[in-house]
Amino acid sequence: MSCVTKHSKGRYVLLGVIAWLAAFSLPQSAHAEYADVVINNYADAAGIRPVVFPHWFHRIRFRCKVCHADLGFQFKAGGNKITMAKIIDGKFCGACHNGEIAWSVENCAMCHSGIPGTPTHFHGSTVQRLVAPAYKPVERQ
Ligand code: HEC
Ligand code: HEC
Ligand code: HEC
Repeated sequence: MSCVTKHSKGRYVLLGVIAWLAAFSLPQSAHAEYADVVINNYADAAGIRPVVFPHWFHRIRFRCKVCHADLGFQFKAGGNKITMAKIIDGKFCGACHNGEIAWSVENCAMCHSGIPGTPTHFHGSTVQRLVAPAYKPVERQ
């Protein structure tokens, strides 16, 4: 066996390892965004960022029925006519985001984190970015 053959064999093994690592690390780094729901019936028009609802984050903590039966959330992206008045009144997100079960409504940027102009939709992609990097606080705060 010549020296050259040995070297190229080593290179193939190295390439194989890199490809294997890439195959397992790339999808995971973007996974968290899959199945998020962007809610933007009113936000853009009201001059605030669209809401990004992390569905999986909530699904692993609560049964479907908590939200879709007890709290009355329709199974449809944007299908619930959610307003801040209703949230502060303890409905929809406000049933939990009340400072007891979860942090309260004054954390505007936690929910209003979407890129302005992103329409209401169920997010089926693992690669497209939804959340805007830097948040500019709204005047009202
Ligand atoms: C727990 C999540 C959550 C938090 C925290 C939150 N919002 Fe919202 N907000 C929503 C959702 C969901 C909607 C509905 C979005 C839509 O359909 O466009 C909404 C809608 C709005 C709207 C448009 C409709 C309306 O009611 O006028 C404004 C303006 C708004 N939010 C401002 C704020 C401000 C200001 C804060 C912080 C003081 C805040 N929100 C905190 C979830 C939240
Ligand atoms: C913490 C509350 C919560 C829990 C728990 C929850 N959901 Fe949802 N779900 C929502 C909200 C909020 C929306 C978006 C509604 C909107 O845009 O107005 C939604 C939207 C949906 C949709 C329509 C969008 C899509 O992804 O196609 C389906 C289907 C759905 N949920 C199924 C489920 C199932 C199945 C479970 C249990 C495994 C579950 N949900 C658990 C709150 C919840
Ligand atoms: C059934 C209870 C429940 C409902 C309803 C609910 N949440 Fe939550 N949410 C939680 C809990 C619990 C946490 C975790 C709080 C913590 O880490 O302290 C959370 C965390 C979050 C987070 C942060 C996720 C992260 O990565 O840390 C966001 C954003 C959020 N909720 C948005 C919403 C919006 C928008 C709605 C309404 C459309 C909503 N939630 C409705 C219980 C709920």
